Amino acid sequence: MIYLDNAATSFPKPSQVYEEVLNCMENYAANPGRSSHDMSVKAALKIMETREEICQFFNIPSPFNLIFTSNATEGLNVGIKGALEKGDHVISTVIEHNSVLRPLHSLSEKGIDVTLVGVDKAGYVNINDIQETIKKNTKMIIINHASNVLGSIQDIDIIGKIAKENDILFMVDASQSAGSVPIDVESSHIDLLAFPGHKGLFGPQGTGGLFIRDGVKLKNFKEGGTGSNSHFMVQPDFVPDQFESGTLNTPGIAGLCEGIKFIKKVGTANIQKCEEELTSHLLEELKKLSYVKVYGSHSISHRTAVISFNIDEIDASIVGEKLNDMGIAVRTGYHCAPLIHDVIGTEHAGTVRVSPGYFNTSEDIEKLVEALMKIYKVR
Ligand code: ALA
Repeated sequence: MIYLDNAATSFPKPSQVYEEVLNCMENYAANPGRSSHDMSVKAALKIMETREEICQFFNIPSPFNLIFTSNATEGLNVGIKGALEKGDHVISTVIEHNSVLRPLHSLSEKGIDVTLVGVDKAGYVNINDIQETIKKNTKMIIINHASNVLGSIQDIDIIGKIAKENDILFMVDASQSAGSVPIDVESSHIDLLAFPGHKGLFGPQGTGGLFIRDGVKLKNFKEGGTGSNSHFMVQPDFVPDQFESGTLNTPGIAGLCEGIKFIKKVGTANIQKCEEELTSHLLEELKKLSYVKVYGSHSISHRTAVISFNIDEIDASIVGEKLNDMGIAVRTGYHCAPLIHDVIGTEHAGTVRVSPGYFNTSEDIEKLVEALMKIYKVR
């Protein structure tokens, strides 16, 4: 199978990720932070090592500013629902994923004022639109760093600066950028950063995290055992314990640790360069096919390796099925980001989405293009 669905989950993972998950399962997958025997201590140390790796990776000031979650969606829910209260105003965009749109929709029914600013056809937000939408009660700005439909990367440095100047919480959804685009929570003035472990960071599914800046007060919804303050009925009020009730996914987190170490060894810039080359190659090839319509920017600048398109007269889902029959994995449809399709005119069937990753080659791209030509020919 030629795997071109890395925006959904990265595959394959670096071999050390598989090895560490197995090593953990076989040798030290005891309950971290609960007991004082050697295996439990080893599990806790691995969790701490991963926290430190992640903090270094995103320039997070302290491991006590980071909580583990089961994916980016959970981190987004914790941040959004934990911070916003009746009477607050929140600004986000129409290019968000349902992991932001759905929590905001349900909050809008509970008296939270939601503004979704538009994006252009290439998928970029106009910074002035954000600035003009700020109100006295604006509590939070939430931005999808890189779109899972168009690959557009928003300028989080500028938006973060605006948020800071206006004393507004700045939350970034790094689902499609963590690992492929450098992120520095300090220089971008990010207060809440939600990221998945299983995409660009090469960890297993069921991993992710949320950075919570010191001073950001969030309500927690989950309560239970944390291995700390165990003789009190009251949930601890310090991070990470406030948000990490229940046994953590130690094998997954151990794998994530190795995924991040792999990225550090290769260098985010090299991963980004490799993905840009594959993207540019595909965009160039698709340009030659008059019956293919590519959505979003045709340049690789400010763009991740996510390419959405349609073939004339053929439904996206049919293209996906045919590609699968030919041994090529892509995603088709709306990609859980419904509102952007009204902007690009794909509200009826969505798009075919190709998302190459670090382990793809230009030969994979060539085979994909050959397959698309064949699909059109025999339509
Ligand atoms: N959010 C992931 C995607 O875009 C699953 O495919």
